[in-house]
Amino acid sequence: MTSPLFHRWATALLLLLALGFAGGAQAAGRERLSLDEGWLFHRGDVPMPAIKGHGMSYQNGKANNGWGAAAADFDDSGWRRLDLPHDWAVESPFDRNENASQGYRARGIGWYRRYLQLGESDRGRHLELQLDAVATYSTVWINGVVVNRNWSGYNGRNIDITPYVRYGSDPNTIAIRVDAEAQEGWWYEGAGIYRHTWLVKRDPLHIATDGLHANPVQQGGRWTVPVEVTLESSDHVARDAIVDVALLDTGGREVARGSARARVGALESTVVRTRLNIREPRLWSLARPELYRARAVLREGRKEIDSTEVQTGFRTVRFDADRGFFLNGEHVKIQGVCVHQDHAGVGVAMPESIWEFRLRRLKEMGVNAVRFAHNAPAAEVLDMADRLGLLVMDENRHFNPSPDYLSQLTWLVRRDRNHPSVILWSIFNEEPLQSTEAGYEMARRMVAEIRKLDPTRPVTGAMHGGLTTDRNAADAVDVVGLNYQIWIYDEYHRKHPRRPLTSTEDTSAFMTRGAYESDRQAQVMGSYDEEPSSWGNTHRDAWKAIAQRPFIAGSFVWTGIDYRGEPTPYEWPSASSFFGAMDLAGFAKGAFWIHQAQWVKDRPVVKLQPHWNWTGREGRDIRVMVTSNAQRVRVLLNGQPVGEQAVDPYQMNHFQVPYAPGRIEAVALQDGKEVARDVVETSGSAVRLVLTPDRPALAGDGLDAVPVTVSAVDAQGRAVSLAQDKVSFTLEGDGAIIGVGNGDPNSHEPDKAHERSLFNGLAQVIVQSCRDGQGRLRLRVTAEGLQPAQVDLALTTVSGPARVPVVEPTTPLLGWRISPPSATRPDPNVVLAENDMNSWGWDEPPMRRGPEAAAFRLYRSSVAVRADRNDGRARLRFGSIAGKAEVWVDGVKVGEKTGTEPAPFAVVLPKGKSQRQVTVLVEAAPGQPSGLWDRVVLERGSP
Ligand code: GAL
Repeated sequence: MTSPLFHRWATALLLLLALGFAGGAQAAGRERLSLDEGWLFHRGDVPMPAIKGHGMSYQNGKANNGWGAAAADFDDSGWRRLDLPHDWAVESPFDRNENASQGYRARGIGWYRRYLQLGESDRGRHLELQLDAVATYSTVWINGVVVNRNWSGYNGRNIDITPYVRYGSDPNTIAIRVDAEAQEGWWYEGAGIYRHTWLVKRDPLHIATDGLHANPVQQGGRWTVPVEVTLESSDHVARDAIVDVALLDTGGREVARGSARARVGALESTVVRTRLNIREPRLWSLARPELYRARAVLREGRKEIDSTEVQTGFRTVRFDADRGFFLNGEHVKIQGVCVHQDHAGVGVAMPESIWEFRLRRLKEMGVNAVRFAHNAPAAEVLDMADRLGLLVMDENRHFNPSPDYLSQLTWLVRRDRNHPSVILWSIFNEEPLQSTEAGYEMARRMVAEIRKLDPTRPVTGAMHGGLTTDRNAADAVDVVGLNYQIWIYDEYHRKHPRRPLTSTEDTSAFMTRGAYESDRQAQVMGSYDEEPSSWGNTHRDAWKAIAQRPFIAGSFVWTGIDYRGEPTPYEWPSASSFFGAMDLAGFAKGAFWIHQAQWVKDRPVVKLQPHWNWTGREGRDIRVMVTSNAQRVRVLLNGQPVGEQAVDPYQMNHFQVPYAPGRIEAVALQDGKEVARDVVETSGSAVRLVLTPDRPALAGDGLDAVPVTVSAVDAQGRAVSLAQDKVSFTLEGDGAIIGVGNGDPNSHEPDKAHERSLFNGLAQVIVQSCRDGQGRLRLRVTAEGLQPAQVDLALTTVSGPARVPVVEPTTPLLGWRISPPSATRPDPNVVLAENDMNSWGWDEPPMRRGPEAAAFRLYRSSVAVRADRNDGRARLRFGSIAGKAEVWVDGVKVGEKTGTEPAPFAVVLPKGKSQRQVTVLVEAAPGQPSGLWDRVVLERGSP
């Protein structure tokens, strides 16, 4: 079996080959390179120096004024090297002094740095740094120039770095300060660069990022695809270009095409439009999510200069005030869940394949819609929703139409408006201003902005009150979203009969996976679906209220999967939620089976709960809950019928069964015939461990990850559902264990570990391939007193995305001052007044002079030498000095170059203070050029 990721990379590779990008071909067209590898990380802040004195103040007023760790010449040796995505909060221990809402994990401040080499062939191209998301506030510097500030942990940024970069041997520095003391949510948000980073190289005239809009519409029974392509140019002159747009079906066959011409001025952007007509396209539906791809190629004459593709699909969506939601004209009751974005073991730095695992699990539960609460999901997740046939409510984080926040909303809409899965934009969730005129005005502005970019999809907002005022935010949206408030459904519908309504959030009931008796002392909740929050309802009651009202489009259960933080109804030691139909690892709780019975229509399902290990309760009644979508269910104990009932599709079926160890079975009956059966057996004590990977193989691309379930069985191979043994893992082969979990909201065991306790019979270990991984991974699990288990996972050879090579860190000497030329030898220790910014010039290597009339010049810079390197052995390396030269450090001559030819040169730095002044006296040979022709660096490591 190959993973969908494999298909994606394979398709990408084929595309690359088709476009002639592969094999290090001449830099042309578009290259999108992963920048995830080889970052340096420092946890905690690096204090900026106090700005004092004229010289420092003067420099502080300049563009490249990044100080401290933001500076290009900052010495970051000793920082931890890691690959992104990264969440440092999930690496933290649990601490009761930290915020319960953030899962009792310290967040704080952190710094990332990355070196980036650009060859001469990159000169003249348009270079964009893409950050998919950073939690939470962040500031980005390129070579000491601040290029972006962002106040949200959920939106991506596309930063034009072309103006600030250097080409050739001197690497560029990307520095990012992340402030995760800032909070935007009341749930676990993680900390750090937790989504992907990219470097995109394009022609100066190119298709803007997220600049291809191809969203099919049906008009008068005919399908067309209005296409808009945004072109941008960072070129120096106006250029004429042609945009060809093709629509490709699932098999890659072209089914429609169009083109448009454009003239794009220097440093301007323009939008070109065309329209593709297509007869009888295959519709995207939940059962058959047919996808098309729109491809735009930008040409100048016959030369292709850029191209891009988006995934799209043909479907209509409509919300009806009386009858709910329609997809392609057919009624679909929304069976949705809300989810946050963290998972066991990995926090918010979630590999795509773990997202895919979660979405598949949700589908298995019968879910047909997902609300990514309360923020934009990763782009890849929407691709998956398209592919898997899931509806999406795409939600913006901040309810705020001021320019900064509005740009986060428009970024979201531009990025996501081609996805057939996206059926609703959500602009707010439970806002205190929702009931006010201000709330209405704010919502109105946000809706108007969305309309400009996407007139096809309705907008909702999640109201948890405020619906009865004269003017409120619900008046500004297309579909009124109701959080909880089941009691208001009928009344609101009566008062506003023309307004489509949906639940945007409901349920909020508590369960602990595998537990069937609540124990408030131990902070455990039973799984019979009897304990809703005071504002919510049981899973069964919430769905009943929604299912029985055709005018409510559907449900969005809070939540599909547990998440860290918000450990309601408890606090410490509980650290993650109890709301999920699945636990943090994606193991089913009681609610999973309830919804499966309510929602799955295409196959019979039946599930019997609880486990059947009740030693000491022999003869006493045990409550048995059977969930099924059949007509009737029958329960058998040790082969004897103990009851049969007509299925209650809302409340499900309950039996009191006097306990006797053995085998208890639930049989689902349709027209008197058995259509499904579930069996639960009393187990003996655990003797052996079992490993069950979600998939048998993974792509060897350094990205693909597989969750593996660990369980314990007795001597007869029966699951031991109450096993709590501590297990340990080892992994051999080209891969790594990236996290462990067990779904216990009260567990304080670390996520980043090679051991974990089973919780009510289960634990999860997540293994990820290494880049260029080959062969197989062998995972072993052991536990005291139990037979170990092992499993092999095949690694398929996949090259993965093209990457930006990792460059070893260096400390360059920057900010050079250059004296005027002089005919006589100047004093290398001449003092340049602190407030003299003009009598010497400013420059950076390469500094090539002459031939000049006067032979001598002084070049001066400074460098900070860290204490651990200040041992009299550190070296200053000059890439190339032309002319004779003397190198002086803090008034002492430390080296002399006697030859006049351009040549590399190095000196050893004597021990001394940390901040060194370096002066180079260069004497040009008569009639010859001179200078520091290449970069100057302080070498790291011992000489
Ligand atoms: C809602 C809120 C969710 C979550 C939930 C818990 O009010 O929108 O984010 O906090 O309550 O019940």
